[in-house]
Amino acid sequence: AQARIGLIGLGTMGAALALNIAEKGFPIAVWNRTTDVTHRFKADAGELADRVIPTDSLKELVEAITPPRAIILMVPAGAAVDQQIEALTPYLGPDDLVIDAGNADFHDTNRRNQAGLPFHFLGMGVSGGEEGARHGPSIMGGGSEADWSSVADILTAISAKAEDGTPCAARMGDEGAGHFVKMVHNGIEYADMQMIAEVYGIMRDGMGMDAAQISKVFSRWNEGPLQSYLIEISAAVTATADPHGGKPIVDVILDRAGQKGTGRWTAIEAQHLAAPIPVIEAAVMARNVSGQLDQRKAGEARFGAAPKRADFDTGALEQALIAGKILCYAQGFAMIAAASKPFGWTLNLPEIAKVWRAGCIIRSTMLNDMAEALAEDPARNLVLAPFFADLVEKALPSLRRVVVEAIDAGHAVPALVSGLMWFDMMRTSRGTANMIQAQRDFFGAHGFERLDGIEDSHGPWAMQQG
Ligand code: 6PG
Repeated sequence: AQARIGLIGLGTMGAALALNIAEKGFPIAVWNRTTDVTHRFKADAGELADRVIPTDSLKELVEAITPPRAIILMVPAGAAVDQQIEALTPYLGPDDLVIDAGNADFHDTNRRNQAGLPFHFLGMGVSGGEEGARHGPSIMGGGSEADWSSVADILTAISAKAEDGTPCAARMGDEGAGHFVKMVHNGIEYADMQMIAEVYGIMRDGMGMDAAQISKVFSRWNEGPLQSYLIEISAAVTATADPHGGKPIVDVILDRAGQKGTGRWTAIEAQHLAAPIPVIEAAVMARNVSGQLDQRKAGEARFGAAPKRADFDTGALEQALIAGKILCYAQGFAMIAAASKPFGWTLNLPEIAKVWRAGCIIRSTMLNDMAEALAEDPARNLVLAPFFADLVEKALPSLRRVVVEAIDAGHAVPALVSGLMWFDMMRTSRGTANMIQAQRDFFGAHGFERLDGIEDSHGPWAMQQG
C-alpha cells in the first residue's frame, strides 16, 4: 500500500481531480469500471504517472491505499453512488473514509450519513468544471470535523487559492452541508447566467449589436465591479467564430439550455425553507421555457414576436446587472442562513463567500466584498450591509429603467424583474398581505394580527357569508 488516497471514476472530472492530486505530491490509486480507461489514464499522465497507481479491481484499489484509507467517488450523482458504496463496503474497515465528490442531492448525502455506513463518509461539493478540477477547484465539504481534517491537507493543496492566498476549500458543516452549499452555488450560477443572457438579449435584439460588439462590452465590464468568470467567458464566447462558416458561434447555437437539476433543487429547497430566491427561481423557469421550443414557435406564430427595438445604453445595463447580482446573492445567502436551523448546521456565510472567491464557476471580485460584508454581521441581509446598500442604491434607478424599457419593448427579463420585485417588497414595511389575511380570515377564520393592539383577531364577516 503506497497510495495516500484513492479515486473511483475516471470521467472528465475524476481524471482531472486525480491528476491535480498527483501533481500536488500525493500518490493516488485509481479505479474505473472500464479497466482500459484506468490504464490509459496512467499512460497519459506524463510526468505524473509515477504517482498514479492503476488498479483493476476494488479489492486491489483498497489494498493500494495506506490505511486508514480515503477514497474519492467521482461517479454520476444518484443511484451510481449507492451502488458504488455497496460494492466497496466489503473491502473497507471502520476507520476508512469515502468521499462523494459528485453533485449529489444533499438529501441523499444526509440519508447516506444517517444510514449507518460501516465507514466514515464525507459529502463534498466541487466546483470549477474540468479546468477547476485539474488546476484548483472550490471545495465545499460536509461531514465531521475529524473526517475533514484527515484529508484537509490534500483538499487544501488541490483547491484554488483566493487573491490573499487562502485555499478555497472548507468544511461547511455536518452531513450534507457541503452538497447543500454546492447546490445553492449552482442556483446562483443559473441566476448569474440568466441575468447575463437577459442583457445579452437586450444588446442583440434591442440595440441591434452584433456578437463582436457585445463581446467588447462584456470585456469592458470584466474590468469593473462585474469582474467574474462568467462575464469573462461571456466575452470569450461572443468573440468566437463558428469553425463551420465563420459566423459568430453564439448565432448558430440553438436557444435551448440544458440542466442537470441542481438549479431546480435549489428552487424546490427554497420553497421548503420559505426562503425567497426569486432570481434563481426565474432562472430555472427560463431554462424550462427555453426547453419548450415547439410551444415558443407556436406562440410566435399566433401572437407575433415582440418589437424589442429600444434605445438602451450599455452603462445602464451594467448598473442593472450589478444591482441584479447583489440582489440575487443577498437572496442566496439568506437561503443558506435559513437552512442552518432545520438541518442543524451552523453554516458560516462569510466562510462560504470566501470559498467561492476563486476556483468555482461563480467566482468574482464582488465575492471578496461579500465575504467582508458578511463577516461584519452574518445575520444581516447582504443588501443591508453598508457597502452593498450603497451600491444597490446607486444602481437601482438603472435596474428599474432597464426593466421598464425592456418590458415595454417586449424583452423577457424574468431574473432582473424578479430581483427588483423582491427588492421593492423587502423595502416596504406596510405591504399588501393585510388583504391576504383578511381573505383568509373571511373564508377560513384563520385570524389576523391588528396594528392597533385591540384584541380581536377576526373580522365581522359572519353575516356577510352567503
Ligand atoms: C460547477 C458547475 C457544475 C455543474 C454544471 C452543469 O460548479 O462546476 O456547477 O458542477 O454540473 O455547471 O450544470 P447544469 O447542467 O445544471 O447547467
